[in-house]
Amino acid sequence: MDTGVLYCDDNLARLGTLPDESVDLIYLDPPFFSNRVYEVIWGDEAEVRSFEDRWEGGIQHYIGWMRERIDQLRRVLKPTGSLYLHCDPHASHYLKVMLDQVFGGGMFRNEVVWKRTTAHSSAKRYGPVHDLILYYGRSKKVTWNAPRTDYDQEYLDRYYKYDDGDGRLYWRADLTGAGVRHGASGQPWRGLDPSPKNRHWMVAPDELEILDSQGLIYWPSRGTGWPQHKRYREDLKGKAVDDVWTDIDRINPQAAERLGYPTQKPEALLERIILASSNPGDIVLDPFCGCGTTVAVAERLKRQWVGIDISLTAIEIMKRRLLKLHSSPVVVNTPSTVADLKTLKPFEFQNWAINAINGTHSAKRTGDMGIDGYWFFTRDPVQVKQSEHVGRNIIDNFETAIRRAGNDTGYVIAFSFTKGAVDEAARVRQEGLTIHLVKAAEALMLQRRPFGAVATPGPQPNNVEDLPLPPMRKPEDLPSVGELIASDQAATA
Ligand SMILES: C[S@@+](CC[C@H](N)C(=O)[O-])C[C@H]1O[C@@H](n2cnc3c(N)ncnc32)[C@H](O)[C@@H]1O
Repeated sequence: MDTGVLYCDDNLARLGTLPDESVDLIYLDPPFFSNRVYEVIWGDEAEVRSFEDRWEGGIQHYIGWMRERIDQLRRVLKPTGSLYLHCDPHASHYLKVMLDQVFGGGMFRNEVVWKRTTAHSSAKRYGPVHDLILYYGRSKKVTWNAPRTDYDQEYLDRYYKYDDGDGRLYWRADLTGAGVRHGASGQPWRGLDPSPKNRHWMVAPDELEILDSQGLIYWPSRGTGWPQHKRYREDLKGKAVDDVWTDIDRINPQAAERLGYPTQKPEALLERIILASSNPGDIVLDPFCGCGTTVAVAERLKRQWVGIDISLTAIEIMKRRLLKLHSSPVVVNTPSTVADLKTLKPFEFQNWAINAINGTHSAKRTGDMGIDGYWFFTRDPVQVKQSEHVGRNIIDNFETAIRRAGNDTGYVIAFSFTKGAVDEAARVRQEGLTIHLVKAAEALMLQRRPFGAVATPGPQPNNVEDLPLPPMRKPEDLPSVGELIASDQAATA
């Protein structure tokens, strides 16, 4: 199984190509039944439409759509593998019934409540503040590294408050448990018989002797109570994590890890899941990977990973996130031919074209006079048309936009241009305005150039073939994620 790969695909199709029993851990955060907006922004438009159909068709359509994917996900899980499905209370109960059917009821392990926010007030009901994470095992023998977390200071101060005299603080724990026992633990020890109190010792008397010889038993002054077990604060291994997670904050606007992706999940959440249910070198799969939180954390924790997302923009964002971690993902199924480009949805095509020329995205869709972005370095306006035979009228309108923006150069990217458009570009050149007509096929070639290739300096040429190439940017200088998102949001507004 290839790892370190980002697939730009519908996950159902891609999952069908992955081998049986090959993955150790799956985390999926699919589009929620509750929120269409994220789909409009992040889904490919056909997907948006079909989601809306599913929603119009009701929850059963949504669950049916998810079930096909869960069937595949179970198939690719190793017998020791785990699946975590992140959802919200709108659909969690339907999803849980479906997961029970696919995995078998005995494979359910937890319903984790993640309190993602403290503030979501509602005048007419209790404020909804949590998501749910449904956790299933492929078998009963899953990989499990019990996670632990810090104790609350208040808890420590309340219980671990007795000073041993050497600065070590300890808690006095009961040495007996409820119920009479007839074995060793029910026998009297040092004259103290637990049975009449309907109790038994936590360990047999000979083990109590060992604890006492180690100084681990606290003896109250005569007649004031029974001996107790001294448990030291410094020996605590951490609190076992339960199924209500209140210690992981949602990504706030100031968080350093925040990319601006609307449904981005915090790295701490994925860190807990990945550490608990996989080991270094294991394979982690996220079939709805968005801006790549799972794959980035898996990379950092030295797991192998595979990511799938239908959105080209999401793939672009992930690629950059991983490059920053010095990982070089293999990206599969992004457009490599003009025919591929024609299948992209308009806003995905626009993002692709601006990225291909290393341009900067325009955050505004309307009111920006048809300027979709700006050429790198010179900041000359760029207009993108996902069309063949772009004609004179487009060039005319763009001429006005360029002049209003106070520039004397602009670029139009399209599949092809009519003779009228070429003539019009030649005419405006006589008036001191250069409009470069860039074919999408040329932009594809620009995109393929290795990082570091340098632009041809010198005066602006007269024909497209001599178009100076923009210098390639280093990964860290590429258009920001914020620009990508703003441009997507504007395009779908
Ligand atoms: C809720 S977001 C995931 C966010 C992610 N957990 C993160 O931290 O960034 C859901 C993602 O599913 C993707 N998606 C929707 N339908 C898909 C499909 N059929 N195949 C693959 N990805 C899909 C969307 O493009 C979106 O990026």
